[in-house]
Amino acid sequence: PQAEENGGGGDDAATETISIGFSQVGAESGWRAANTKSIQDTLTAENGFDLKFSDAQQKQENQIQAIRSYIQQGVDVIAFSPVVETGWDAVLEEAKAASIPVILTDRAVDSEDESLYESFIGSDFVLEGEMAGDWAVEQYDGEGFKAVELQGTTGAAPMIDRQQGFADAIAGSDIEMIDSQTGNFTRTEGKQVMEGFLQKYDDIDLVFAHNDDMGLGAIEAIEAAGKVPGKDIKIITVDAVKDGMQALADGKINYIVECNPLLGPDLAEIAKKVVAGEEVQKRIVVEDQAFDQEAAKEALPDRQY
Ligand code: AHR
Repeated sequence: PQAEENGGGGDDAATETISIGFSQVGAESGWRAANTKSIQDTLTAENGFDLKFSDAQQKQENQIQAIRSYIQQGVDVIAFSPVVETGWDAVLEEAKAASIPVILTDRAVDSEDESLYESFIGSDFVLEGEMAGDWAVEQYDGEGFKAVELQGTTGAAPMIDRQQGFADAIAGSDIEMIDSQTGNFTRTEGKQVMEGFLQKYDDIDLVFAHNDDMGLGAIEAIEAAGKVPGKDIKIITVDAVKDGMQALADGKINYIVECNPLLGPDLAEIAKKVVAGEEVQKRIVVEDQAFDQEAAKEALPDRQY
């Protein structure tokens, strides 16, 4: 690889160009748009990168194809955000056989062999679900709330983990999860699923949406059904992107747990280290905060995404 021509290992990486293939999940949400921007703004030629970027449109087969093409092109590093958790071993073994290091961003793979990737940079999704559930219990336990869940993409790490974290947190309270269905992390599907829930049940008190976009879709469905989001039906979401934060400040969402999408700088740093043959941390946990309606009003003016 080009990066070794100067001997590697030094700080003079500015003279070396690292070719990196990045396979993105898709363009399903505001969060994803912010994440893509962070990666494209950081892995630039000025920062020493030649970025090859592809959008998998939420399809695992597209990601596998992109990774194979990066292996064929002989890039220095492959990075990707796996759309679902399982089914990666074969293609990761191909990358390993070609001696191309792999970095995971945002979402994890469910692989027993941790040598198939160098590092995983991303949030703790179980904790995000727990933070959402803890707040729900703090606010609403004792009121016999009936809740519905708008889940992320089936089989995706944030879907599996947020569901688990929320369920663990409300266990023992009198909040009852009466139905869960995937809205695939998109606004359109979140709206459709919520419409279905509203037709099926007339006593929904709380929505837990695995991301802001689905929560925003749910707001549209709730308003169309003649109810007031944030009052008649409380809404808790994850992400804290601008549109979500605006709806929170406007009183239509009740609480948002952040998921920080700005992973570009960490990815750039880890990629440089990996190419230089330096040790890197296997797991880099991105810290998240949470916002209620007052905190959203304060944070909104400075929100970057
Ligand atoms: O993997 C992170 C999740 O993916 C975000 O919470 C969601 O908005 C996105 O689609």
